Amino acid sequence: MAIDVLVVGGGGREHALAWKLKQSPRVGKLYVAPGNAGTANLAENVPIGVMEFEKLAAFAREKKVGLTIPGPDDAFVGGIVDVFKSHGLRVWGPTREAAQIEGSKAFAKQLMHETKIPTAEFGVFTTPHTALAHVRARGVPIVIKASGLALGKGVYVCRTVAEAEQAIQEIMVDRAHKGAGDEIVIEEYLDGPEISIHALTDGSAHILFPPSQDHKPALDGDQGKNTGGMGTIAPVPWVTTEMMAGIDSQVVAPTFEALEKRGTLFQGLLFPGLKVTLEGPKVLEYNARFGDPETQVYMRLLKTDVLDLFEASVDGTLDTVGRSIEWNRGFAVNVVIASGGYPDAYKTGFPVSGIMEAEQDEHVVVFHAGTKKENGILVTSGGRVLGVSAIGGTLKQALDRAYAAVDKIHFEGMHFRRDIGARSLS
Ligand code: AMP
Ligand code: GLY
Repeated sequence: MAIDVLVVGGGGREHALAWKLKQSPRVGKLYVAPGNAGTANLAENVPIGVMEFEKLAAFAREKKVGLTIPGPDDAFVGGIVDVFKSHGLRVWGPTREAAQIEGSKAFAKQLMHETKIPTAEFGVFTTPHTALAHVRARGVPIVIKASGLALGKGVYVCRTVAEAEQAIQEIMVDRAHKGAGDEIVIEEYLDGPEISIHALTDGSAHILFPPSQDHKPALDGDQGKNTGGMGTIAPVPWVTTEMMAGIDSQVVAPTFEALEKRGTLFQGLLFPGLKVTLEGPKVLEYNARFGDPETQVYMRLLKTDVLDLFEASVDGTLDTVGRSIEWNRGFAVNVVIASGGYPDAYKTGFPVSGIMEAEQDEHVVVFHAGTKKENGILVTSGGRVLGVSAIGGTLKQALDRAYAAVDKIHFEGMHFRRDIGARSLS
């Protein structure tokens, strides 16, 4: 029997989830709240904000929504799942308590420390004075992070003491990330390529998606400030099956065990970000949700009906359903096109052209993130505006297709990285 589904969020991740859900023969009506101009093409956008949990729950009840799938971190950390459950509504994802693994970097580091999960050495600080003293004692490079959620922008990789001082000033004194910076984590700099791991769980069994790789800095060659993510590839060709098995046994499984020991049931998606160092993979952070733009590549690669996976995660049947998960062969990539200036201040409202031309290649799907329709015209409305995804038999083919499509798209000030996946080609 078909069920109606509500996706909560308005970014590229939610467009990709909606795009894939739309292909399920078991999905009836599809709603996205608040959605964007892309989701409006395949679902009904509902003008309710991501953090308006009670309104969302009332909508889900009124429309007899059979499953709600929230996307964004702040929704989970804020307790959207708890609110829906308290109304007896069926909802996917971690509770507020379980999402602490993402919502508090200090909590996550403590858990890793106690469980001996490989991660960077760290200290937690609550005053600028002690933080500065630590930086001076440790030297650079060093990494300074606001403990709470900061839209992926609360992390400062500091190569000089002056940069570190500036970061502490920004987070703790100028309060650039507000309360998220009341507590800061200062950690050892880890060298090596970064990968994203996605583990779907029903609280007992879990399955690993193929490894993917995001590119966080704004500019080519990993220059510039960190962003929410400028582009992804999956799978990552140099990550071996053995490496994935090691990540499962040394990171993913022990994390779930540690949560269980604390009496925390984690259902949903655990997304550890790792650095592959000379000493092996080490955890940079945990996310308690799908990555953005990781989701865009996963939805292009996934063959299985994604509703089956969400329902198995909610119903506790992942043990059987997960075993039959199927992925398309080959590679998927997603190149993010951002507003000029992002991740710092940027202007919006610029008309966007060329999406239809870009999608003329059947291997290409353009996911919207920061877009809206204004008087019938598609305009930019956010920092990350579009994700141009492509699939191919080889990574090179997928990248060539994606970049050919990117070149057909235009809006004033647009910027994107030219080197997504480039390091994995050789
Ligand atoms: P996070 O939100 O903690 O994943 O940090 C955002 C980005 O900062 C990561 O994706 C890395 O590129 C970088 N980063 C975070 N922690 C470290 C670290 N300990 N060493 C090197 N780079 C880091
Ligand atoms: N792409 C990284 C994230 O979603 O946090």
